[in-house]
Amino acid sequence: MNDATGGSDLASVASIFRPGLLDGQVALVTGGGTGIGLGISQLLAELGAHVVMASRKPANLEAARADIESRGGKVSAVQLDVRDPEQVKAAVDGIAQQLGRIDVLVNNAAGNFYAPSATLSPNAWKSVVEIDLYGTFYCSQAVYPIMAAQGGGRIVSTSMTLHYRGWPMMAHATAAKAGVDALTRTLAVEWAPQRIRVNAIAPGPIPTEGVRKAFTPPADSGVPDVFAAADARMAEYAKKGIPLGRWGSPRDIANMVAFLASPAGDWITGSIFVIDGGEWLAKAPS
Ligand code: HXC
Repeated sequence: MNDATGGSDLASVASIFRPGLLDGQVALVTGGGTGIGLGISQLLAELGAHVVMASRKPANLEAARADIESRGGKVSAVQLDVRDPEQVKAAVDGIAQQLGRIDVLVNNAAGNFYAPSATLSPNAWKSVVEIDLYGTFYCSQAVYPIMAAQGGGRIVSTSMTLHYRGWPMMAHATAAKAGVDALTRTLAVEWAPQRIRVNAIAPGPIPTEGVRKAFTPPADSGVPDVFAAADARMAEYAKKGIPLGRWGSPRDIANMVAFLASPAGDWITGSIFVIDGGEWLAKAPS
């Protein structure tokens, strides 16, 4: 049973996957302590993986770690800024040394905010492109030798749907995510001989705290502010704007990551999976 604002019956959804499906596997989830990343960390841990959550802000990881541990999950946390390739390499090598392998990388860390392209500062542009695109490349490159040496691995990166059309005031994020799509396809082909499957997910509207913050447009911008709407308006948006009639939840995204991380995804690489209840297809051109 789902409600219009994205709540799911997590217990019934979790039972879709066989317990122990990812036993013995190690998964690194960037931005893994909050929002969609947390939902992914929780599900991969529930399925038996040792999850390493990475975040720039260690405080973001503590509550998540305690939560996963309290349910019997294997979890650790590492402080990491995905924009720093040396830091990324050191963290990834440290995880491999400590846990013996890295089977799954989830490139979930992202930064975003609405800002007019005409006045976006070079540093603002750089911050978002570096987190979303460079960070995805640095983390993928860092796990490559480990996955190649162990005979394979799975990388799942995070894209979006907003660059399928023009999306005012999101030049930085849409350009970066288009790059993530291209990178996904290229790495998939380049690393297939090493049995590293590379795919991406493109989440639709999921009202996590980070997304609400990033997607609240300036008041005078003329861009509709669906997240800031009162609950009744959110329900109305779900009814009118999302063909499947409800907002998404982190678990909706985590389910696809678990599928791709499992042997069910064994012949899938270079694909970008839109998970949005049909939203972008139905959106009126802006
Ligand atoms: C204009 C802004 C801005 C804003 C920051 N900047 N916010 N410019 N409008 N709202 C500018 C700053 O002025 C600065 O430029 C530059 O960006 C860097 O800002 P810092 O705060 O110094 O950077 P940093 O601390 O590194 O933070 C990075 C960040 C931040 C991207 C700016 O928002 C962040 O860390 N976000 C992570 C969380 C997040 O955004 N999650 C949402 C992901 S949702 P100057 O020139 O002044 O130095 C998502 C959507 C998925 O990705 C798809 C759903 C449909």
